[in-house]
Amino acid sequence: MGWIPCSGKSNTKAKTKKIKHNPVYQSKPTSEKLKANSSSIAEASKSGGSDYIAAQTFTFRELADATRNFRTECLLGEGGFGRVYKGRLESTNQVVAIKQLDRSGLQGNREFLVEVLMLSLLHHPNLVNLTGYCADGDQRLLVYEYMPLGSLEDHLHDISPVKKRLDWNTRMKIAAGAARGLEYLHDKASPPVIYRDLKCSNILLGEGYFPKLSDFGLAKLGPVGDNTHVSTRVMGTYGYCAPEYAMTGQLTLKSDVYSFGVVLLEILTGRRAIDNSKTAAEQNLVAWAKPLFKDRRTFSQIADPMLQGQYPSRGLYQALAVAAMCVQEQPNMRPLIADVVTALTYLASQKYEPDIQLTQKSCLAPCTPPRPKGGDDRKLSCNSGVEKERAR
Ligand SMILES: Nc1ncnc2c1ncn2[C@@H]1O[C@H](COP(=O)(O)OP(=O)(O)OP(=O)(O)O)[C@@H](O)[C@H]1O
Ligand SMILES: [Mg+2]
Repeated sequence: MGWIPCSGKSNTKAKTKKIKHNPVYQSKPTSEKLKANSSSIAEASKSGGSDYIAAQTFTFRELADATRNFRTECLLGEGGFGRVYKGRLESTNQVVAIKQLDRSGLQGNREFLVEVLMLSLLHHPNLVNLTGYCADGDQRLLVYEYMPLGSLEDHLHDISPVKKRLDWNTRMKIAAGAARGLEYLHDKASPPVIYRDLKCSNILLGEGYFPKLSDFGLAKLGPVGDNTHVSTRVMGTYGYCAPEYAMTGQLTLKSDVYSFGVVLLEILTGRRAIDNSKTAAEQNLVAWAKPLFKDRRTFSQIADPMLQGQYPSRGLYQALAVAAMCVQEQPNMRPLIADVVTALTYLASQKYEPDIQLTQKSCLAPCTPPRPKGGDDRKLSCNSGVEKERAR
């Protein structure tokens, strides 16, 4: 078999604290007793409205061969559910990322099944593609398209001096693309899908920093009919979880919008959602940023120092306005993801070139108004607190 150098970094970083199955928050026990094997996946897929599964099945041997027996040099990273290896499939020569789930009983099985189902049924350029899976004996492995630039987290935090810093245009491109992936889940998928685990390590980057959402093991089918929420065990990652979801277990599409706001703040500030190495007042990114949203004089303190001042002031204000609205306490005050997409697509289209910014400043188009939609959802507009502040 032809071999590839497993050049991905061996990254067994400290894991972000996951909130999982906390009985205190459990408002509705899950009754699913799904067996994660090929036949139950196929059956469940049919009941989900699709009569085919695009993902292939692999034997454990095939995946062991693809990763040269899960060699350490092939390790790309490790998350809450297991290790991820780079490999090459002998049958097709395709380079893939293979996640080997820890064999930790039903919980892992359930997430494996949800992941296979979700990614078999959902297809969008901003969602990572599931090539296949393996459910051989008690082995559970997921085979994804390989994303050569790793995760957004790898490019924002703890970056080595030799690594290229993300510039403003790339950050806006990533934010807009990730929002489009979420918009597909919320507005195009039927029934809607609540992602539940949006965070920087789950935004993977392809050539040209093209972003794709990954890890659907926690995804949940959203409310249907007149229901406004689904009740569920509180799961997700500390720092990204919407406050009402953490308190009550009531999950809505707006819980994802909150998590998106946290990710956008990370993109703009270069800070982690939770950073225990900082002083108490600065450990929680949202709590730190909220007072700063109110005063335009502090905006330059919010911007990631890695940008070295190379960003459009107006673009930063507008992106901060979007983030500020997404992380509001009240879920119904948060914008719809479609409105976030409109705003960020506009911001991403305004290419920043440091040398010509001064001459362009006066002819920048005004912030694009959001497309109207029913309900009491607060719309994004140039009149948010940040923008009012800026206009003073
Ligand atoms: N398809 C992929 N292509 C390239 N690298 C990947 C791919 N999937 C995952 N990785 C790498 O493996 C790392 C670990 O991913 P994993 O999803 O297991 O953990 P995580 O996202 O850090 O945490 P969590 O388990 O909470 O999702 C990622 O941060 C990324 O660097
Ligand atoms: Mg992940």
